[in-house]
Amino acid sequence: MPRKIIIDTDPGVDDAMAIFFALRSPELDVIGLTTIFGNVHTSLATTNALRLLEIAGRPDIPVAKGSDHPLAVPFGGPVPFVHGDDGQGNVHLPAPTTAPLDQSAAAFIVEQVMAAPGAITLVPVGPLTNIALALRLEPRIIERVREVVLMGGNALAPGNATPAAEANVHNDPEAADVVLGAGWPITMVGLDVTHKVHMSGAHLAQYAQAANPLAQHIARIVPFYRAYFERCFPGSEGIYVHDSSAIAYLLDPGLFETRQWPIRVETQGISRGKTWPATGSGNDAHPAAWQGRPPVNVCIGVDGARLVALELERLTRS
Ligand code: BDR
Ligand code: CA
Repeated sequence: MPRKIIIDTDPGVDDAMAIFFALRSPELDVIGLTTIFGNVHTSLATTNALRLLEIAGRPDIPVAKGSDHPLAVPFGGPVPFVHGDDGQGNVHLPAPTTAPLDQSAAAFIVEQVMAAPGAITLVPVGPLTNIALALRLEPRIIERVREVVLMGGNALAPGNATPAAEANVHNDPEAADVVLGAGWPITMVGLDVTHKVHMSGAHLAQYAQAANPLAQHIARIVPFYRAYFERCFPGSEGIYVHDSSAIAYLLDPGLFETRQWPIRVETQGISRGKTWPATGSGNDAHPAAWQGRPPVNVCIGVDGARLVALELERLTRS
């Protein structure tokens, strides 16, 4: 039986790659997409989710629109310089012919998880607002979910949105603190590993060669994203594979090295959005700050070459 997953997403070029990677993986059954602000506003994230499912030939998969803003503060705004004004590398796709559900993302998550105890895995690859709202709506999802595998955070690595913080967590640190402290089975696939998963220009060229509409879409949208990385990290070539790394964890957790560390999220000052682990040495000279916090399965190492090969294999065959 394929594993049932809900992807909570802000598409986003690398989100599109992750969604397509999941859809092309027979081990996974994508039962819904829920949308969130981040790379774009939530309304455009919703439109893009619908567009991506049409491209993939899966308009049957439901899309539920999520929150327009973080739990505690206004949304800081999208990042058109990373993902394009349209969130899809400025290819400006036609409007989708399908529509989102008449149900919020949080309500959809609660309904699905409560209806199938132990069966649903949540895969957030954007800010964690919808997941925190679902917990607020129905705390019993903590016992009913199979697992949460998220892309976000940085335990030992520096940030990307700021020197301290990773973008998804930085966009809603209050929500991330709730989700990482909920006490459910949760894996953090953050910058500690995604900055070790690199697709080169030669890897990316394989998408253009592949005769399927998903790879063809990636080939169209990735140049804008790649140009951002090469501008931002002088001397680099290609892209980091952020959101797809969470999908790869579901397919083959053996690709990753993990540690069990409680995490707290900084919500104040210049380090707002930093995910702090209590590693049991050095930086937790003040363990009281983590008192009562449950362990999080934190990815700290990865076989990046094998991960990239797995994603390319899934996405480039006909
Ligand atoms: C995360 O931020 C977003 O820009 C990407 O889609 C990814 O989810 C990486 O920090
Ligand atoms: Ca994302």
